Amino acid sequence: MFLDPKKPAVILAPMEGVTDAPLRGFLTRSGYYDYCVSEFIRVSENVLSHRVFKRHVPETNRPNCMTASMVPVQVQLLGGNPERLALSALSAIEAGAIGIDLNFGCPAPTVNRHDGGATLLLYPERIEKIVRAVRDAVPAAYPVSAKLRLGFDDPSAIHENAKRAEQGGASWITIHGRTKTQGYTPPAYWAPIGEVRKHLSIPVVANGEIWTLQDFKRCREETGAIHFMIGRAALSFPNLAHEIRTELKISRRETPSPLTFPETLDARAWKEIFEQYSLEQPSEKRVKQWARYLQMKRKLPWWDVVKSSGSVAEILNRLTQFQEPLLSDG
Ligand SMILES: Cc1cc2nc3c(=O)[nH]c(=O)nc-3n(C[C@H](O)[C@H](O)[C@H](O)COP(=O)(O)O)c2cc1C
Repeated sequence: MFLDPKKPAVILAPMEGVTDAPLRGFLTRSGYYDYCVSEFIRVSENVLSHRVFKRHVPETNRPNCMTASMVPVQVQLLGGNPERLALSALSAIEAGAIGIDLNFGCPAPTVNRHDGGATLLLYPERIEKIVRAVRDAVPAAYPVSAKLRLGFDDPSAIHENAKRAEQGGASWITIHGRTKTQGYTPPAYWAPIGEVRKHLSIPVVANGEIWTLQDFKRCREETGAIHFMIGRAALSFPNLAHEIRTELKISRRETPSPLTFPETLDARAWKEIFEQYSLEQPSEKRVKQWARYLQMKRKLPWWDVVKSSGSVAEILNRLTQFQEPLLSDG
């Protein structure tokens, strides 16, 4: 199993529209992540075909559903219908998936209107039913996990929902320490994750608002967890996962073409990163997106340069020439 209940792990979060296959492939070259979760794939009116999984999670075409750096990718499904989710999960496994994660946290109004994601946090019995249906459909060797928020609007809902997920047969759960109503507004509440952990016998992965090593240490203290999922900071502070590994005393995974990120915001160093990234992801929108994450928690000196460029070639060229603006002494 790619999550060992006894061994610490750092996991790359699913982020729809962000952590697609090219980015997963690129980030896992660092050796900082033990596994990734795919962006959610919605199961609505139809059971999903092998083709859908091959397209959304091309890692299914490799042995053991790994990135080129041999890091496993779990397929995440989102929906409210147990039977269709179960059959789609089986289809994913047949297509090459090595594990299924079930999304009970997506706050997007369109998703919630269609009976998926965080809406299900209002119905513990449905969470149990869905997890059980998927667990029963998928051969026992393949883990089935669930990713939950603390609740829809009531954070205490996590206790019942987590218990139901375990009763349904979840191999582990991931908890994002916020309700749907809290969206992405800081802070994330880690203490309830610790409370839930005490009452479950399956692993609990802690997630939400880990941006610095200090955040990580507090999260570990409050949750007692040994498994941590990193989302936005994977792009904003790409060396954070490495610092966390060091703290958890887990070595960097060996990868065929290792990648090391700059420690600073040096424009030329980042030009090199974006240049390599663009070999796998040629869209300038995605390079801009990464730069936007870099400036989420601090000022990125070359943000305007990236923002106003029309192509990857222009971004790279202008980053090479970037001069830090001289500070006026007036
Ligand atoms: C742009 C974006 C897309 C996301 N897409 C998904 C998704 O597809 N599935 C999921 O379970 N969570 C999704 N999430 C939630 C993240 O996995 C994670 O739980 C959340 O960002 C909190 O972790 P962080 O503070 O480390 O970013 C998404 C978050 C963001 C910011």
